[in-house]
Amino acid sequence: MDKNLKSTANKVFVLAAIIAVFSLHSPLQTSTAQEASQPDDLVKREGWQLVQENCTECHSTQIITQNSGTREVWKSRILWMQETQGLGELEATLEATILDYLAENYGQKTASRRPALPAHLLPANPNSTAN
Ligand code: HEC
Repeated sequence: MDKNLKSTANKVFVLAAIIAVFSLHSPLQTSTAQEASQPDDLVKREGWQLVQENCTECHSTQIITQNSGTREVWKSRILWMQETQGLGELEATLEATILDYLAENYGQKTASRRPALPAHLLPANPNSTAN
């Protein structure tokens, strides 16, 4: 084997090793980080099938699972879809069950951002002409 051919073979071997390491690594990562569930899976609690049946005709469940809010907020979203997006009337008990499910499983999140610092804790503005 001449020298060039040997170094090409080495490169191919290294590349194959890298690919092998990555392909071993990624399935491990997804199964631990996401506990084998998809981001668009609805929480399997009472009423989820009704949401699956009535709310996935026009968009995926992901648009639901990535949202949150109080019962009133969910109600206003349904109203908005009825008024502007062609969602039909939902029978009263059906709508109540869906709203209960959404409010319970995708309820209002508590704020995740810290409040702004009070003015006296802020450094002086170096660009201000008042200083
Ligand atoms: C007739 C079609 C249709 C049906 C059925 C439907 N939606 Fe929608 N929905 C839409 C459209 C269109 C949008 C806007 C999609 C976009 O912005 O990409 C939307 C948006 C949303 C949003 C995002 C609203 C926002 O503020 O961004 C949520 C949440 C949602 N739908 C939940 C639901 C739920 C819950 C149901 C079942 C009660 C449902 N949808 C059934 C058409 C529908």
